Amino acid sequence: MTSEWSPSSWQSRPAAQQPPWPDEAGLERAIKHIGSLPPLVFAGEARALTAQLAQVAEGQAFLLQAGDCAESFDAFSADAIRDKLKVILQMAVVLTYSTGVPVLKVGRIAGQFAKPRSSPTETIEGVELPSFRGHMVNDIVPTEAARVPDPERLVQAYHQSAATLNLLRAFTKGGFADLSRVHQWNQEFVASSPEGRRYDRMADHIGRALRFMAACGIDTVSQPSLHEVDFFTSHEALVLGYEQALTREDSITGRWYDCSAHMLWIGERSRQIDGAHVEFLRGVDNPVGCKVGPGATADEVLALCEALNPDRVPGRFTLITRMGAGQIATRLPPLLAAVRDAGHPVVWACDPMHGNTFTSDTGRKTRDFDAVLAEIAGFFAAHWDEGTWPGGVHIELTGEDVTECLGGGDALGHADLDDRYETMCDPRLNGRQSIDLAFQVAELLDRH
Ligand code: TRP
Ligand code: MN
Repeated sequence: MTSEWSPSSWQSRPAAQQPPWPDEAGLERAIKHIGSLPPLVFAGEARALTAQLAQVAEGQAFLLQAGDCAESFDAFSADAIRDKLKVILQMAVVLTYSTGVPVLKVGRIAGQFAKPRSSPTETIEGVELPSFRGHMVNDIVPTEAARVPDPERLVQAYHQSAATLNLLRAFTKGGFADLSRVHQWNQEFVASSPEGRRYDRMADHIGRALRFMAACGIDTVSQPSLHEVDFFTSHEALVLGYEQALTREDSITGRWYDCSAHMLWIGERSRQIDGAHVEFLRGVDNPVGCKVGPGATADEVLALCEALNPDRVPGRFTLITRMGAGQIATRLPPLLAAVRDAGHPVVWACDPMHGNTFTSDTGRKTRDFDAVLAEIAGFFAAHWDEGTWPGGVHIELTGEDVTECLGGGDALGHADLDDRYETMCDPRLNGRQSIDLAFQVAELLDRH
């Protein structure tokens, strides 16, 4: 692992989950083209995120990482981006206000376009087709032609990421995220629910607190932290040619940064210690993460810590556990103890989504809100037991009023899933379920 690293050194390792691009010349052209385009994020921003994640590693802050399972080329609009941001801001403000702990906001957004698949093919209505691998690679339409990996999609993913990031920057720095607008993030279909009313009551309290501070003589107008947020982007670093093309040497430090996003993670299916994904991530100076499932051993996790954060930089490495509600109580504690005893300064985040996916009675891929919450509760319990800090949550959600996950405030049942089941990939929490979750996570954090 200690051999020379370069942005392309991953190519000499076995790379899991890479699309079978039939048009090799086209792939080379697309990657070369992206390599000539401006970076999407700036190295200094990635360093700032590492510094903020170091606060999480030290138990002084909480990470909220959230967004779509897979972004879509079709559902790409200002409204969709705004509504996703609204929900994330709402969750963040609930967590911040209820716990008094700073909350880092990291979106699964502006680059989350590639999906790992358990099988290279899938059978749809009796026809075997190449699997859908995300809009960065092919189209979801179930025809042979649509499923052919098209390298031009890499370029389109870049441009959509740039436009998304541009709007996010405008919203988060240009007034939309101002704390005086806390009521306006509450969308109509949320506001009419018990969670939404609870949110509105909290927003009233925030407004009162701001007026109180102003009345006390504190200059709330010129205090930028009340009017804007730092919002970071992240996605799974899956298609390594794309990531390589956006990897640039920082002129200030001489280090390499993957400038496709502030933070990158690798998945449970691509975390082989001698594999290409670990090789790629070890050489970029962004904060990086790795998903770990119930099969992960303490030795594997320690090897990942060593490979990806040999200098033990706090905030550099996040372990995102996705155990499933039924397994977290037995699988997580040994990992927490091993990493703690080895003295590795990791951020621990809970992905309560991917270990709790199943097929509904009506044949829909779904998750139950109660299982999601149970995994988070198990995550907190394990951390309190081991004396470690439950650093954050990693959630798949949307701002839309979809019906993809069961349960929650309006007790969605199996038959309701058909109403507005819109996801291109995994089932996401809707706006109401997300706000509900934020309140419950805040209570778990506060209870200790
Ligand atoms: N800037 C602070 C923060 O990010 C306070 C803040 C402003 C805020 N707007 C927000 C917090 C929206 C959450 C959501 O914490
Ligand atoms: Mn997913």
